[in-house]
Amino acid sequence: MALRNIRKEGDPILRKISKPVGKITPRMKELAEDLLETMDAAEGAGLAAPQVGVLRRMVAVHLEDGPQILINPEIINEEGECTEIEGCLSIPGFAGTVKRPQKITVRYQTLEEETVETDAEDFFAKTVCHEVDHLNGILFRDLVVEEVDIEDIQETEDKEENEEA
Ligand code: NI
Repeated sequence: MALRNIRKEGDPILRKISKPVGKITPRMKELAEDLLETMDAAEGAGLAAPQVGVLRRMVAVHLEDGPQILINPEIINEEGECTEIEGCLSIPGFAGTVKRPQKITVRYQTLEEETVETDAEDFFAKTVCHEVDHLNGILFRDLVVEEVDIEDIQETEDKEENEEA
């Protein structure tokens, strides 16, 4: 396992469309471990493979049961909406509100090559949406409704809401 370098806004790789993951090779397993480790070290809520320079459809994300790897994730249902503050490990020092579905269903493959469908709400839903956007070359800055002063949120809100992805 190894920490990988997180690419920052301005790096063209963050604007590219990632390719589907086929067979789970040892290299893909290593990528999954590194994503989890790098996400943890950066205290992020999620981290997508293109953020570490790999254009493959794989993300690490915190779900209700803890950190998970989602391979080839697809959002297959969306309900409601909520506008919450987001941040991104690739855009340090910037935060803003984004409108997202309140509840989603995401279909993905596990490292055991099983296809799973999971519901996620609120904080977890927004994180999954944010990470899937990374696989399509979209940064949350593109979707920001209103910029927020990062020092204000650090003083007034609890830490989980401020986690970057
Ligand atoms: Ni991000």
